[in-house]
Amino acid sequence: MASGAPLGVFDSGVGGLSILAQLRRELPHEDILYLGDTAHVPYGARPDEEIRALTDRAITALHRLGVKAVVNACNTSSAFSLDHLRSRFSIPIIGLVPAVKPAVQATRTGVVGVLATPGTLRGTLLADVIAQWADPAGVQVLKAVSTELVPLVEAGQAGSARTREVLREILRPVADAGADQLVLGCTHYPFLAGSIHAEFGDQFTLVDSGAAVARHTRNTLDRAGLLHDQPTPGQTTYLVTGDPDAARPVIATLTAPSGHNGDKSTRAA
Ligand code: SIN
Repeated sequence: MASGAPLGVFDSGVGGLSILAQLRRELPHEDILYLGDTAHVPYGARPDEEIRALTDRAITALHRLGVKAVVNACNTSSAFSLDHLRSRFSIPIIGLVPAVKPAVQATRTGVVGVLATPGTLRGTLLADVIAQWADPAGVQVLKAVSTELVPLVEAGQAGSARTREVLREILRPVADAGADQLVLGCTHYPFLAGSIHAEFGDQFTLVDSGAAVARHTRNTLDRAGLLHDQPTPGQTTYLVTGDPDAARPVIATLTAPSGHNGDKSTRAA
């Protein structure tokens, strides 16, 4: 595989754009193919097998397009698919795990919240990091679940009154229990930071995996001899499985504040 091939980034929808922003900072010269499965988002409430099958189909599509590695920028998909994907494809597959470790290391109250989809909360990846980091440190992990937040972000409603109402409802018990760290266990949720702060002020430090995943991706490409050393900025191409006209304005809004994302053309996968 040539180092000049693009890096693939996959998400169930537009949530992976929060990871893309970090990848762009870490890997400014890489060409990136972003694939959002907007025809099937949200994945969070789907059965395990269906999540695995949808992910397989998407990564196969990226593989056929010649990507040199894939960042599976979807917590729900990663929770059920990483072993399967790594046995199917010979290219590096980088997955997402909720950032429990840094939250456990930073908490002063000994209580940490994890906001995630039902799929991510059900998967073994989260149970593994809780057992590895929180349990031995005696840190209590409180889970907050929502099936409504991902569709709200997909609809460009991250800052809406309804979003704030949902957040108020599901995070109140976590706040009342004294959590000072909130792990954003879904790549859509960094886009909710403004709404969370508006509702809860400085109660929580928000913790996500974006920067760590970007560093891990750079190291993985480097070790595999796949870092692209072209001097010019890399281009980003956005592919969606649903209606590109519906996705275009949401992608434009969610990529606007994070600076350079290259080409903003969006087309059907
Ligand atoms: C979803 O599609 O429901 C959520 C995606 C994620 O977990 O990152």
